[in-house]
Amino acid sequence: MGKTTPLQSSDLVNKSIKKLADEDYFQIEMEHASLEKLLNDLTDSCCNLHNQFGCQGCGEGKLAACRGRFPSFFHDLIEIVGNHFYHEETIMLNRPHVTEGYEYFRAHRAAHTNIMRSLSSLIGECSTLDKLGKTAESYRHFYNKLSTLLEEHNVAFDVPFIESTRNNTSPGNHHH
Ligand SMILES: [Fe+2]
Repeated sequence: MGKTTPLQSSDLVNKSIKKLADEDYFQIEMEHASLEKLLNDLTDSCCNLHNQFGCQGCGEGKLAACRGRFPSFFHDLIEIVGNHFYHEETIMLNRPHVTEGYEYFRAHRAAHTNIMRSLSSLIGECSTLDKLGKTAESYRHFYNKLSTLLEEHNVAFDVPFIESTRNNTSPGNHHH
């Protein structure tokens, strides 16, 4: 009495997996939205993001505000992307067939590590440009490089990954 049959309990597990999966997708979507917002904030700050002008057309106060925002952009970027990658890797490892040694997981995690390294370099490059008085150039470099890195990763890894979890197949599972 009060005990669940194997069938009922596996139904419960399936439901909780499905529920967890939905929360995971929601979280991933929120993280993507945060990144999208960061890119939009860059666009809103710099008046010359999509041209090749310097900061001559902007007043002193505006320039100071743009320069002052860099530290929080850099901080937010590392925090959002770091959490996002950690979260993605956790979701992957929670899938039944995925282990630390699974080839696709290793490749995907290596891609995350490389992006984190590239972002550190990018932050260094942008700080240098800003210190040289090239603030608009720094904004452009930050925006363009970040967009490219995320876009490339999305196409190469995240879209196949999300598709595969939706269809319950394995990404990068090549048939030889
Ligand atoms: Fe990813």
